[in-house]
Parts: sequence; C-alpha cells; structure tokens
Amino acid sequence: MIRVVPIQKEHIKGFYKALDQVAREGKYLLLLKAPSMKNVKNFVLSNIKNKWTQFVALDGGKVIGWCDIIPYEHPTVSHTGKLGMGLLASYRGKGIGTQLMKACLKHSQSRRLEAVYLDVYGSNKPAIRLYRKLGFKIDGIRKKGRKHKGRYEDLVLMSKSLKPSRGKMA
Ligand SMILES: CC(C)(COP(=O)(O)OP(=O)(O)OC[C@H]1O[C@@H](n2cnc3c(N)ncnc32)[C@H](O)[C@@H]1OP(=O)(O)O)[C@@H](O)C(=O)NCCC(=O)NCCS
Repeated sequence: MIRVVPIQKEHIKGFYKALDQVAREGKYLLLLKAPSMKNVKNFVLSNIKNKWTQFVALDGGKVIGWCDIIPYEHPTVSHTGKLGMGLLASYRGKGIGTQLMKACLKHSQSRRLEAVYLDVYGSNKPAIRLYRKLGFKIDGIRKKGRKHKGRYEDLVLMSKSLKPSRGKMA
C-alpha cells in the first residue's frame, strides 16, 4: 500500500537516500549524487517552513519517491516554480508518479503558484509521457544541453499554467 503525503521532518533521511539512489543511476537527474545531508535537510526544512510543495511516496515507512515544485527565488519569477521528481527503480510504471504529481500540482495551485516549469532529458520517454499526460507542453529544446561522460543529450523544456484555485490558501 503506497501513500503519498506532504514531506515531514521524519522523512528527511529517507528522501536523502531515495534522491541519492536515483541520482546515482546517472540517467535522469541533473545531480549525479545527492547533495550533502546538511543541504538536503535545509532544503526540506525550508520547504516545510514556507509551505512550498514537496510530497513523498511511502511504502510502509520507507520513502520510495518524491516530487517537489519550488518557487524560483527572485521576486520577478517567484510566481512560477520548478518541478523535480523521482522514484526508486522497482516502483516505476505503477502509477505512483502520476499520484505524486497530481498531489503536487493541486498543492501548488492552492498556494497560488501560476506556472510550473521543468527540464527533462530527451531520452526520458516515460517522464515526458507522464508530463504530457498531466498537461505540460514543450516550450523548446536545448540542444546538447547535457554532457555526461562525453555524450551529449538534448534538454526538453516543459511548462504548465496553473489556474488559480478558489478557496483558502493551503
Ligand atoms: C518519471 C517517473 C517519475 C514517472 O513515474 P511513474 O510512477 O513511473 O509513472 P506512472 O506509472 O505514473 O506513469 C505515468 C505515465 O508515464 C508513462 N510511462 C510510465 N512508464 C513508462 C514506460 N516504461 N515507458 C513509456 N511510458 C511510460 C505512461 O504514459 C504513463 O501513463 P499511463 O500509464 O496512463 O499510460 C519515474 O519513472 C522515475 O522516477 N523515473 C526516474 C527518475 C526520473 O526520470 N525523474 C524525472 C526527471 S525529469
């Protein structure tokens, strides 16, 4: 039974491990390993404090995936946010990514975020299909935007506008 919940302090270690594991696959994320535990902890605590969007997927108590949408820092762009996500390999293709993204988009909408952006590698067809399914459009391609071990890859830049949700802010 998988649960998708807003991240809490007790998930920091599990999130760190999941992020590190997916990053070390070297195929999907900008990161090739997790940042330091201290940085990850500060990132999560700041998301909790600011009520920014970050959800984790849990199998029992274990963090097996995450999705976050963090507003850009500068005031002229902070009405928009950047999405990042990942699942441990054995949990992919079971609809958990869809659940995580839906929860995050709803939360960001209730926080009055106006648009979500993301970058995805051109070879990452499952991710691109998921993003299209949830209403993301391709804004452009950054040719050879990635270089790893001497191999180039295109970066696909995608976005989705969020309609302002009625009711109270989350
Ligand atoms: C990308 C990722 C988060 C998607 O989550 P997921 O739980 O695997 O995706 P879902 O099972 O919810 O599937 C969502 C859609 O993606 C597509 N999809 C999923 N797995 C796929 C596969 N192996 N091949 C092709 N399309 C696939 C389908 O269109 C699917 O929708 P449908 O089932 O209604 O047809 C997950 O695969 C993952 O963690 N990948 C590695 C890390 C990563 O790529 N992060 C994103 C970096 S931008």
